[in-house]
Amino acid sequence: MTTVDGVPLDAAPRPGQCLRTYLREHGHQAVKRGCDAGDCGACTVLVDGAAVHSCLYPAVRASGAIVTTAAGLPEGPDDPRPRFAAAAGFQCGFCTAGLVTTAAAAPAQVADPQERARALQGNLCRCTGYRAIADALDRHTTTAAGPVGASSPAPATERIVRGSEPFTFDGEAPPGTAHLVVVRSPHAHARITRIDTEAAEALPGVLAVLTHSDSPDVLFSTARHESRLDDPDDTRVLDDVVRFHGQRVAAVVGADLAAAEAGARAVVVEYEPLPPVLDVETARDAPPIHGEKTGSRIADPARNVVAALHQGVGSIAAGIAEARAAGGAVVTGTWRTGRVSPASLETHGSRAWVDDTGRLVVRTSTQVPFLVRDELARVLGRAPASVRVTTGRVGGGFGSKQEMLTEDLTALAALYTGRPVQWELTRTESLTATPTRHPMRVTATVAARPDGTLTALGIDLLSDAGAYGNHSPGVMFHGCHESMALYRCANKRVDAEAVYTTTPPSGAFRGYGLGQVQFAIESALDDLARELGLDPFELRRRVVVRPGDPFVASADPTEHPDDLAFGSYGLPECLDLAQAALARDGDPAPTGPTWRVGEGMASTMIATIPPRGHRAQAVVALEAGRYRVRVGTAEFGNGTATVHTQIAATALGARPDQVELHGGDTDAVDVDTGAFGSTGTVVAGTAVARAAEALATELRGKTAARLGVAPADCTLGPDGVTAVDGRRIDLADLAGARGEGAHGGSPRSVAFNVHAVRVAVDTATGEIRVLRSVHAADAGVVVNPQQCRGQVEGGVAQGIGTALYEEIRLDDAGRVTTRVLRDYHLPQFADVPRTEVLFADTVDTLGPFGAKSMSESPYNPVAPAIANAIRDAVGVRPRRLPMTRDRVWALCRHAAAVCDASDPPGDVTSAHGPARLV
Ligand code: FES
Repeated sequence: MTTVDGVPLDAAPRPGQCLRTYLREHGHQAVKRGCDAGDCGACTVLVDGAAVHSCLYPAVRASGAIVTTAAGLPEGPDDPRPRFAAAAGFQCGFCTAGLVTTAAAAPAQVADPQERARALQGNLCRCTGYRAIADALDRHTTTAAGPVGASSPAPATERIVRGSEPFTFDGEAPPGTAHLVVVRSPHAHARITRIDTEAAEALPGVLAVLTHSDSPDVLFSTARHESRLDDPDDTRVLDDVVRFHGQRVAAVVGADLAAAEAGARAVVVEYEPLPPVLDVETARDAPPIHGEKTGSRIADPARNVVAALHQGVGSIAAGIAEARAAGGAVVTGTWRTGRVSPASLETHGSRAWVDDTGRLVVRTSTQVPFLVRDELARVLGRAPASVRVTTGRVGGGFGSKQEMLTEDLTALAALYTGRPVQWELTRTESLTATPTRHPMRVTATVAARPDGTLTALGIDLLSDAGAYGNHSPGVMFHGCHESMALYRCANKRVDAEAVYTTTPPSGAFRGYGLGQVQFAIESALDDLARELGLDPFELRRRVVVRPGDPFVASADPTEHPDDLAFGSYGLPECLDLAQAALARDGDPAPTGPTWRVGEGMASTMIATIPPRGHRAQAVVALEAGRYRVRVGTAEFGNGTATVHTQIAATALGARPDQVELHGGDTDAVDVDTGAFGSTGTVVAGTAVARAAEALATELRGKTAARLGVAPADCTLGPDGVTAVDGRRIDLADLAGARGEGAHGGSPRSVAFNVHAVRVAVDTATGEIRVLRSVHAADAGVVVNPQQCRGQVEGGVAQGIGTALYEEIRLDDAGRVTTRVLRDYHLPQFADVPRTEVLFADTVDTLGPFGAKSMSESPYNPVAPAIANAIRDAVGVRPRRLPMTRDRVWALCRHAAAVCDASDPPGDVTSAHGPARLV
């Protein structure tokens, strides 16, 4: 018998069962599943007081032990849970139960800033950048309940720190829930010639085996947008052609997970190999990967081009000639970025069943429940009203859950078997078969007069879409848009193509293409500043767009009108803030003859809402003295539950604790595009504001009618509505009032980010230490300073991961070799420096209460800022992400022999070598 949180648990574990699964099966949901290899720490529990990763701990070994989860930690001075609550030490919160458990096991260690990195090395957080966690351990209180402008805590705070907030697979599954396991392709490209399911189907507990013969003959895209026509229809639920190593081949449904896994091992598949296309540089001359799919919105299927953009204004040649004639400078170079996994700590997964009314219900880990519902209905041939999609709290997304990656197959299996079915991806499936950031090769050309006036700005871009197009058009167009529109220049040109390869698909991830393109442009501008003898901050001041300028990416705005507008403009202030902050102290530089120190910066712009439509609706009702807000948005660590609560409370003169939010449910409202592109605040937040204001108007009107005063003489407060003469109607007496609001997402504003760093580089080893990291953000009115700071810190941490560590690597056969988190190198506590976050003082005329979005954009300038600092330190420019230690070492070696043509730079630079003047 095991004692768990003080309660005996006498059920015997199954043979070979790990403690994590045993505990979760018996309702202990504070134990999360983030990996299966002891890497992430989400499953941390105490066994007789010692912290263990329960995914590695045999359940049978816990017999007779005292097991403690986050739900059962003893209260008292060493209890870290109140500190995590007071410091908002989480965003999605999926890591939190494990973190507080680890912290509880080592109170002295985690209290010591020098020791805590070692204590926490087994606990990963993908959201926070660890600053809020350090604040919690340092006993800082950063939250204070209040309206817009206050650092109000998340409504779920107490449940998060105790592990009781239900994520996708928490809460009881419907009775009889079966499990799904997928057979995956061992080839990068092949046709399936035969699938023998007989042996699998004969196994005990196997309920069904689904193959491409059972798949609806409907093409769709896993990417989801308001208009489904934005994405190419090139995917089937199950296909008879596999186009990447790891693609779904068959789905085995078992009465339990073990039966489904055994069934998957017994499925026999025969393949006819097809030519793999693994090199994006030659893919346009390779055999077509989706050649038969005409009419699927693929730009040129015969050339494997899924999306293309070739356009410009003015003439790049003329701009270069102008710069040369004026005695200015011209820089061109090529930069490459890697495959980066969003790696949300909760993997993708879903549960599907048919309810008593015959409706298909899907509970899933998604950022876009309404868009998943609509596409599920289309693929399965059902009416949208016959499908309901809901979420629990989602354990991180970062754009990766703006895709339908599991729901189609789970739902198909549920309909096929008549049983509830669930499918939760393993971490290895997540790393090998879910979309990554698009690897890109970007050649940038910039030219300027001696005073910095840009005369030419051009990019030539090749994006690796992988096997399926999903977000590739959107990522490419967005990546080329704001990155080009940020700069004033008469001559601009974009030549960009996104190209299929038979490698794992690329997809949406924080920044949506801007990070890759800005890495090239901001690096080229850094070289340009050097050539012109200008300070890099000063060059940006001279070249960036200003209010009144048109937004010109590569097309004439008078011919291609956009709905982008300057709702506010805080970029100059961001440049000033970041420059001043960088000049202040940082960590002391390491001493020694091989260390070099350098500084770098980069600036970026982002539209606060995606183009081409983004809708949200909200309803606010007064029920039993409390305000109930219904909105479609799911909470996945983006903070919208907090922000929507604050917005409603502010509009209604209420306290945040008087507001209850119901979201993440297609039954909550009629429409909601979802939370991506940082729209949770500016689109759904505006809908909430409008609904709350409509309700406030109704409450004032009702009060005025009862008291015989004018509505304008009535003021809403936490207890009721008070007339100017002091008489008050209590909220309880106004029950039934409701307001509705909607927002269509147009016109759109722009937000800005500037990142600056000082780094030290050990030229002997390639080690990089970030000595100072500052980030200035133009977020408009900051609705929740603590939370917005956390979004910036999290984005910066992901930018540091991209810059220095993270890369999904493939072998020569197209097989992912980084199959567990420890090989992938997600940044740990010790890897992320503290970033000073500063906000420009602006009020946006388009966003709710003057706010702008600020979730995804902080990521974008980080890698180029670090690259520019490395260039400053060692004298040679990095050209490839990530700038891993071995690559930086090679870069330094090349720097030492830069004049020796026999010492090529290897993969630290492009085929063009170091940035050169032409
Ligand atoms: Fe740590 Fe999301 S808050 S993983």
